[in-house]
Amino acid sequence: MTAASPNNPVDFADLLAFYASAGADEALEDAPVNRFAEAAPKPAERMPATPRESRAAEPPTAPPRLDARALPDAPAARPPTSAVPDEAQAALARQLATASVTLEELRQHMAAFEGCNLKATAKNLVFADGNPQAAVMLVGEAPGRDEDIEGLPFVGRSGRLLDRMLAAIGLDRNSVYIANVIPWRPPGNRTPTPHETEICRPFIERQIELVNPKVLINLGGPSAKTLLNTSEGILRLRGNWRVHTTASGIAIPAMPTLHPAYLLRTPAHKKLAWRDFLEVKAKLRALG
Ligand code: URA
Repeated sequence: MTAASPNNPVDFADLLAFYASAGADEALEDAPVNRFAEAAPKPAERMPATPRESRAAEPPTAPPRLDARALPDAPAARPPTSAVPDEAQAALARQLATASVTLEELRQHMAAFEGCNLKATAKNLVFADGNPQAAVMLVGEAPGRDEDIEGLPFVGRSGRLLDRMLAAIGLDRNSVYIANVIPWRPPGNRTPTPHETEICRPFIERQIELVNPKVLINLGGPSAKTLLNTSEGILRLRGNWRVHTTASGIAIPAMPTLHPAYLLRTPAHKKLAWRDFLEVKAKLRALG
């Protein structure tokens, strides 16, 4: 690839294609920023020595946009930044989640929440799809490009495979409820960081509690590890019943299985997922 020049639009097309294939498919700002042109700090403008000092030196923040601050004892919310989210945001997420007594309230609190940096690059909140009264709830990792555009989980290629897997045991989107651990698409579909997962964890945990399904299906390792509190790999976990315990102590049988995106790349393992789904079918029959 040759260097892009303003006189050659074809070069720019190549450059954009290169960026997209490298996963850089989102713009973070409306206008380009020339970082090379930014002035070097003058000696008098020394960098603060510690993060704590750095925070203390920040100007007072503008009034937050988050409705959640109206909640009693809500910790201070900061305006959205691309910095790594901190424990205060996780604490706020926990408060909002606990304060949500319906799924609609939870959705509204999540939509107003500014504490997860992934929201800044996502087009939509991907809250859920399916039937909130369903006996089966499936939880994936995080939305991809198609889900971000439509605001619904599992609507892309892996979603179409998931629909076929569900149909194989007599289920469809009217008889299951589907959500993700992370409700905002990570830019370029990168893996969510542990911080991002911890910030979002209270929301998905509350969502499970409010749906209160008879059976939970964890789609892939990140969902299983986050919601079953284990560090075991998905190939070891899958196929064995575990328990997800909600904050109020409800124990929900959980079946970890392989993620449909993994199955698209590794079709030889579809038979394993098929066995896991048969387990779910048998469990539903046993639970009545
Ligand atoms: N993968 C996921 O984990 N979730 C989605 O919604 C789509 C793809």
